[in-house]
Amino acid sequence: MDLSTDYMGLKLKHPIIASSSPLSETLEGIKLLEDSGASAIVMFSLFEEKIRRENEAFDYFIETGTESFAESINYFPSIDKAPKGPDSYLNLIRKAVQATDIPIIGSLNGITDKGWIDYAKQIQEAGASAIELNVFFLPTDIDMLSSTVEQRYFDILKAVKAAVAIPVAIKLSPFFSATGNMAKRLDEAGADALVLFNRFYQPDIDLDNLKIDPRAELSTISEIRLPLLWIAVLYGHIKASLAASRGVHSSTEIIKYLLAGADVVMVASVLMKNGPHYLNVLKNETDQWLTARGYHSLAEVRGILSRQNIWDPGVLYERVNYIKVLESFEKPSGWYGKQSKV
Ligand SMILES: Cc1cc2nc3c(=O)[nH]c(=O)nc-3n(C[C@H](O)[C@H](O)[C@H](O)COP(=O)(O)O)c2cc1C
Repeated sequence: MDLSTDYMGLKLKHPIIASSSPLSETLEGIKLLEDSGASAIVMFSLFEEKIRRENEAFDYFIETGTESFAESINYFPSIDKAPKGPDSYLNLIRKAVQATDIPIIGSLNGITDKGWIDYAKQIQEAGASAIELNVFFLPTDIDMLSSTVEQRYFDILKAVKAAVAIPVAIKLSPFFSATGNMAKRLDEAGADALVLFNRFYQPDIDLDNLKIDPRAELSTISEIRLPLLWIAVLYGHIKASLAASRGVHSSTEIIKYLLAGADVVMVASVLMKNGPHYLNVLKNETDQWLTARGYHSLAEVRGILSRQNIWDPGVLYERVNYIKVLESFEKPSGWYGKQSKV
């Protein structure tokens, strides 16, 4: 079975990529991902905000120290503890590129134009094969217009594209009012790949302590539905590669994403839960499913259930389907007229 695929010009042996996660925080982790069968690795994100915070905290201690008693000098962070900025991240990329034979994709989350541009250049110089822009940005300012939010994505993409020569992927939010058009315009603006979708931080409320519970949870299988829909809609309509991200916990979700039209499928939660070795299980099961159905290559199946390739997409992917789904729900029997005893 030829599982090879092209992801924004990178030739991959198969479509399963290790998504950005803490598993790539060490060289050992990165090597383990490769040994476990990842066809490429997206590094955990370099956060400009984190670097700034570390610098500010260090400057604060140093400045406060100049006005304090001499003996308090012991409490100050020593100069060798000075924040290293992006150095450790960039060094890790350098080592990962040397130690592996698969593409290493840097991941960047900036906050200023300079940050996006400078760090993107440095990630390229460190040897990354591509960059993924993690535009994690929650517009909680309710005065901010949707056009302003969208423009931010274009500005970041254009600035980074102008600064580097390696391919640039952009990880999208699922929360645009016209997701398809946004994807089309990002494609036109030069995105080499679209990663659908980012998983936003959504805090819960802890009722026992009446506090915000900031814990993040791993994804669940049902989360594939939204990326699946948009990949099926976009397949064949944009030049950029399509990366599916979210909700893969078995080969079933991978196969669905490929049939919808994904070039690659990214996995994070399933590896956090079962360990990196699970990559091999996912790959073998995908291979077996396709072989058992008489396929010889990924290219034969990619997109066969996309919107453009199925009979009457209006019925299957849009309004009529919506109405049918609502009508298909069975009401629980014996429910009407009963008073709640609670
Ligand atoms: C613990 C954890 C850390 C993550 N860190 C990052 C990150 O640094 N940058 C990023 O773009 N995505 C990050 N992600 C998001 C994943 O790359 C992925 O897009 C998301 O989890 C959906 O895929 P999944 O269902 O396979 O987990 C993280 C996910 C998890 C679970």
